[in-house]
Amino acid sequence: MSTTNTYESISNENRKFPPTASFAESAHIGSMESYYKQYHKSIQDPQNFWAGVARDLHWFKPWDSVLDDSSKPFYRWFDGSRTNLSYNCLDRHVTEGRGDKTAILWEGEPGDKRVLTYADLLDEVSRFANVLKRLGVHKGDRVAIYLPMIPELAVALLACARIGAVHSVIFAGFSSDSIRDRVLDSQTSLVITADGGYRRGKILELKKIVDAGVQDCACVHHVLVVERGGDEAIDCPMQNERDVYYNDLSADVDAICQAEEMEAEDLLFLLYTSGTTGKPKGIMHTTAGYQVFSYITAKYTFDLQSDDVYWCTADVGWITGHTYIVYGILQNCITQVMYEGAPNYPDEGRFWEIIENYKVSIFYTAPTAIRAFMKWGDDWVTKNDLSSLRLLGTVGEPINPEAWMWYHSVIGAERCPIVDTWWQTETGGHMLTPLPGATPTKPGCATLPFFGIDADVLNDNCESVNAGILAIKKPWPGMMRGIYGDAQRYESAYWCKWGGRYYFPGDGARVDEDGYIWILGRVDDVVNVSGHRIGTAELESVFVEHSAVAESAVVGVPHEIKGQGLIAFVTVIEGHDCSEDLRNQLVAMVDKSIGKFARPERILFSSDLPKTRSGKIMRRLLRDIAEGRELGNTSTLADPSIVENLQLQFQQGK
Ligand code: WTA
Repeated sequence: MSTTNTYESISNENRKFPPTASFAESAHIGSMESYYKQYHKSIQDPQNFWAGVARDLHWFKPWDSVLDDSSKPFYRWFDGSRTNLSYNCLDRHVTEGRGDKTAILWEGEPGDKRVLTYADLLDEVSRFANVLKRLGVHKGDRVAIYLPMIPELAVALLACARIGAVHSVIFAGFSSDSIRDRVLDSQTSLVITADGGYRRGKILELKKIVDAGVQDCACVHHVLVVERGGDEAIDCPMQNERDVYYNDLSADVDAICQAEEMEAEDLLFLLYTSGTTGKPKGIMHTTAGYQVFSYITAKYTFDLQSDDVYWCTADVGWITGHTYIVYGILQNCITQVMYEGAPNYPDEGRFWEIIENYKVSIFYTAPTAIRAFMKWGDDWVTKNDLSSLRLLGTVGEPINPEAWMWYHSVIGAERCPIVDTWWQTETGGHMLTPLPGATPTKPGCATLPFFGIDADVLNDNCESVNAGILAIKKPWPGMMRGIYGDAQRYESAYWCKWGGRYYFPGDGARVDEDGYIWILGRVDDVVNVSGHRIGTAELESVFVEHSAVAESAVVGVPHEIKGQGLIAFVTVIEGHDCSEDLRNQLVAMVDKSIGKFARPERILFSSDLPKTRSGKIMRRLLRDIAEGRELGNTSTLADPSIVENLQLQFQQGK
């Protein structure tokens, strides 16, 4: 959604939906009075607040200090403590008598099913951890994970956490080039993958993609392969010495593996995400702070109760899956559904069947999915009994009020609160969100800050304003600790905006008369396509690798289903044809370098791009063209005819 469009639709929005009395009655936070009371405490005395939360969890050794801010912005949380996140997700429940509780109700796309209790999961994770050890993985080593949404994905993360290896999950829609870049940047010694996975009835041959990605990566000693295919033969070439099947090793390792005592600031995981340059950033999250933040945000935002059946439709390959499928949810000992495949396989009713069959009570999905459901029609939904639902959530991009209202009435039967959760890979967990038993919600609004989160909307001069840029004014435990191998980029990307005082997330926002914060979209060159973050510079650097391309500029435009789509403007070196063939080659390059999900909606060719006389590309004008708007001021252009030609080409649909 472009800033302007979101702004227009949500600035007229003044409907308000308080939680029902029955929801509020049994909620952890059941009134605004209770929210504000705890919120103020958390802001006035954060150390006490966070220590109180941390005491719910298991620590091998307690902390000496809750927050050490002596080397801003490199904050340290719970220093001096020793803990293990896998222990808090598994052993804590098993030793306290909750081992028989169902942890994961898994369903594969073809319809195969698996059920794992917390005790089963502990067993699987311990075996997996022992297999990793047998393959020479030590504490601190980086392990890449490229798996479909099968239980072993969650198991692999927890196994790494258990032995102190740093996981770097790569979403299984990324290409082999993306795998290579991430593996090399983090010097990964082992890659975990599967022979394949299912998506919309087809098999994705994941091992082959990994092979192409790591073929020249000397740092990779082993590729560990989980067999997803079962009886179905999936072509999976194995390389002697380097490649091993998980099943061949898991049978003879011990089912017990003591959880490593980790230091608070030991690296837990890396997760690569897009920024404003061509190179994705390895976002660093460490152990104790992320543990505490993921636990408490999951508990309060989803108002988790022991009999809930929770379902988050995200992939574990993104931060949402890390925090709200794996760590936050398991720490709360909740039963959850995990589904491998597409929402429209074998038909558009799949999700609603899953909700009915498993009696899902909490459903967390992305606005882009909600818009697709709306388009597919209500009949797919109403065929099923969704009365088990009690809470709905959204994440990843702004939700337009129309989609919010549809979610509220058709899926939630006007009964379920909606938590619109604003946060980022970098923040580790929810930052702005309604608390469902307390906060009256407004369609399209992420409402108010979570406990301990000091949020404000500022202008460039660091003054509070009604519409401007979102700022986070206090550190919080789940915050990123840096960019892997690039401390300087961490400071310049996130801490330079207001003289280093506050965290700069890169989102525009406005505040309304109730103090609610409305997110308006990114203020940088990051575009959110179907909730997937893509840096326009990443695509531009792909295009210029083609020998016929001189230059390119990519902009985000509003898209009915995806929220935003990408339009690429490409200048071609003289003597080369601007043919359909070239266009196809460029699309193939995007598939190869990033992944199919980053394909632009359209590629426009031109002899030049609109530039100022000093040679700066005027993206504002490209956005005007791509959004079909009247062109803004063109008086500073070196050659106004370029932009006119591009506009004509765009209108003619070329
Ligand atoms: C956007 C996803 C509006 C925002 C968890 C942010 C949202 C970026 C919302 C982070 C929301 C996420 N409303 N915008 N509820 N949630 N965003 O790192 O622009 O994949 O900066 O994390 O998504 O994307 P990321």
